[in-house]
Amino acid sequence: MKVGTYFSENSKAAFKNDPPGAWMPNLPDGCIRLSSGYPDPALIPAEEIKAAVARLLDEEHDLPLHYLGSPRVTRLKQQIQKRLAERGVFVSEEQLLITSGACQAIDLIARILLDDQAVVAVESPTYMEALEIFQNYTKQIISIPIDGQGIRTDRLKEMLVERKRNGLALPRFLYTIPTYQNPTGTTTSTERRKHLLELSSEFDFLILEDDAYGELSFDKNPPPIKSFDECGRVLHVGSLSKVVAPGMRIGWIAGDSEFIKASEWFKKDLDHPFSQSTMAVYLENTNFEKRLHLLKDVYRAKCAVLLRAMEQFLPDPVSWYVPAGGYFVWVRIPGVDTSELLPQALAEGVSYVPGKYFFLNQSDGTEFLRLSFSYANEKEIIDGIQRLGRVIAPFLNGLPDPEVNDTNAPTP
Ligand SMILES: Cc1ncc(COP(=O)(O)O)c(C=O)c1O
Repeated sequence: MKVGTYFSENSKAAFKNDPPGAWMPNLPDGCIRLSSGYPDPALIPAEEIKAAVARLLDEEHDLPLHYLGSPRVTRLKQQIQKRLAERGVFVSEEQLLITSGACQAIDLIARILLDDQAVVAVESPTYMEALEIFQNYTKQIISIPIDGQGIRTDRLKEMLVERKRNGLALPRFLYTIPTYQNPTGTTTSTERRKHLLELSSEFDFLILEDDAYGELSFDKNPPPIKSFDECGRVLHVGSLSKVVAPGMRIGWIAGDSEFIKASEWFKKDLDHPFSQSTMAVYLENTNFEKRLHLLKDVYRAKCAVLLRAMEQFLPDPVSWYVPAGGYFVWVRIPGVDTSELLPQALAEGVSYVPGKYFFLNQSDGTEFLRLSFSYANEKEIIDGIQRLGRVIAPFLNGLPDPEVNDTNAPTP
């Protein structure tokens, strides 16, 4: 018997893509991880979470361990509502669903809105896990380029006009990461955020706003697209993975109540009430504004160290976008296939994610790579970039002068 013969056509089609995690090869011992989009290990509040678990069980005994969980699950919802309200997003209890991380939220949204005839639009490049999720539901994915100001809404409009003129299906939704995007670190301007909303009304589609990094500005957090949404077109997805701990698996969808009801229908018991009530206790006993200040200070400083090291050790004509928050710096090495460079970088003891994994059409991403400043410490970041510079230099020797392509080239 071969169990694979029982797989659904959808599953078989999905197995033709790169396996999940293909972008993160096994790293040699001692390798400096500039690939990992993980929080700084020193910022994970392990002791506080331990105290929260103890307090929860002391106060509620077995209650949090039942199917229904503790009443604190509802209090977590209220805490998230309050945080959202501070950012101009006002949602009722019926307009908010707690999920197992942003990934479950994205999967639920895709499951509810997509079938194999449905069209979804994504940024190019975009978060590879979201791309994988969408590919599990439809083959009709359309990429819209981004530049230093975020998604090119002019190009989105051209695509929409063109499809309408030709009688083709319009997207059910657009997936966007407007703030400190993964992988490019860019932020969509307020003007373009508003333009996106106008287009969504004019061409009748929803917006999935992935705000995983939205509170991690080096200066001021930009207002989420959801804060401008007067028609309920935006499904705002958030997460505590990047600001508390990814292993807790706490995320959410804030959106139209009919949509939230549909999401509850499919989510069933696939989330974690124990983790949710622990998070509620943790938040009740934490000055979260103070914590955010600390996170911003640490990541701002680490990003500055990374950028300085890049200026010093990466040869011309390597270029990059300077982020205003988040975890990532997006780098272009004209004329070099960063997948081919990776084995040498790993041998030298530094990792990054080759750009191709963030593109629907992987050949669009060969000259790019994503660096993360969140996980490695400052010394490792400097060593890592020095190593990367040593690996890149011979690849550049003998290349013809790079053609400058304005729409693609991150500007230093
Ligand atoms: C843009 C984006 N969305 C969502 C996620 C996943 O978040 P979560 O851990 O809450 O599932 C990530 C994590 O890397 C991300 O970069």
